[in-house]
Amino acid sequence: MRIHILNGPNLNLLGTREVAIYGKQTLGDIDARLAEVAEELGVEVDSYQSNHEGALIDAIHRQRGRADGLIINPGAFTHTSVALRDAIDAVQIPTVEVHLSNIHARETFRHHSFLAPVCLGQIAGFGPASYELALRALVEALRDRGEPS
Ligand code: DQA
Repeated sequence: MRIHILNGPNLNLLGTREVAIYGKQTLGDIDARLAEVAEELGVEVDSYQSNHEGALIDAIHRQRGRADGLIINPGAFTHTSVALRDAIDAVQIPTVEVHLSNIHARETFRHHSFLAPVCLGQIAGFGPASYELALRALVEALRDRGEPS
């Protein structure tokens, strides 16, 4: 089973960006932890980050026929991008939306997600653990659906 992890704008700055909200771990730290969890679960993971909406859409399209599941932290595109939502809907790959912060407890413009309705679920507010929880939940959901392990 292959899981692809996508990270949107400004997440390359994790570790130095708004540390009080997003914490001190870098995206590299998060990827390293996900690699450990993937090994424990017996699945393959790889990841991609871009600050550009079109590049993220292209990356989602590239996963057709490759990834069994997607995990995406769309960053600010969560709250703006119909195009990213349509890309996820179009490829029909089961997807989990993740956020480090609890977007529902922040500014009102962060409360709405264009992507959530086309995702299996959303995990928000647990810092870097949001990604680990998403990976565990997605693998379990795919195995329940009978995806080859
Ligand atoms: C975020 C939440 C978004 O509102 C914000 O724009 C981000 C990060 C999070 O992981 O908490 O860039 O997706």
